[in-house]
Amino acid sequence: MVKYSEYIQEEEIRKSLIIDINDFTDAELENSRLSFARNSKFIISVASNSGYPSHNKREIAFAGRSNVGKSSLINSITDVTGLARVSNTPGRTQMINFFSQDDAFFLVDLPGFGYAKASKDAIKKWKNLTYDYLQGRKELELVLFLIDSRHGIKEIDENIMDILDSAAVSYQIIMTKYDKINKSQSQKLIETTNEKISKRAAARPGILVSSSKDKYGLDIIRALIYRIINT
Ligand code: GTP
Ligand code: MG
Repeated sequence: MVKYSEYIQEEEIRKSLIIDINDFTDAELENSRLSFARNSKFIISVASNSGYPSHNKREIAFAGRSNVGKSSLINSITDVTGLARVSNTPGRTQMINFFSQDDAFFLVDLPGFGYAKASKDAIKKWKNLTYDYLQGRKELELVLFLIDSRHGIKEIDENIMDILDSAAVSYQIIMTKYDKINKSQSQKLIETTNEKISKRAAARPGILVSSSKDKYGLDIIRALIYRIINT
């Protein structure tokens, strides 16, 4: 049996690794709330790097395996249902979708990877499109790297992290669908995830947890984006 003191200690470790509301000032929380309450606009869907929108703002991209919840999270933080297309069919988002937020910055919905039924041709297209964007887009400020709480970081995620590390693109890990796991699963997940990212060059420290279903963690994600855009 786990001793109570050990349990408390583990709980403290878990808490210290999760980025929470106390990591932000009241002003950051309020200003980010206001910024995300303003105009969210779909701009363009692109299938090649010649179609990127031209602007002088910064971009925050959502990356992760197919079905991890990228499009849902964009809809949740902007509070606009249907802004990004959500689907039960994995591999739904196959183009790069650009959204402008508050005319101040862009949210970018990347096509998911690791879809088991994808054809060789589809995987090649995904690679060309996504690698080009991740390695060469100068407006890209931060990648929000989404990981399904039920699965944790897999080899395929590690491969994309290798690309981000070598291209020196900063990324933040977000555990999605946090509503689907319990506390003891969370304990293990957070510690294992932290171990996997702690030695990575371009990973930001700390882990965000979110649920688009329960609207959990959204204020913290907004505040993080706001901080990055304004520093
Ligand atoms: P691709 O576009 O295929 O790469 O997928 P995606 O990462 O954009 O995932 P999407 O947002 O389309 O969500 C996939 C499925 O997961 C949908 O059925 C969502 O309703 C569901 N989903 C997304 N976020 C959550 C969450 O936080 N909790 C739960 N329970 N379900 C979620
Ligand atoms: Mg999607």
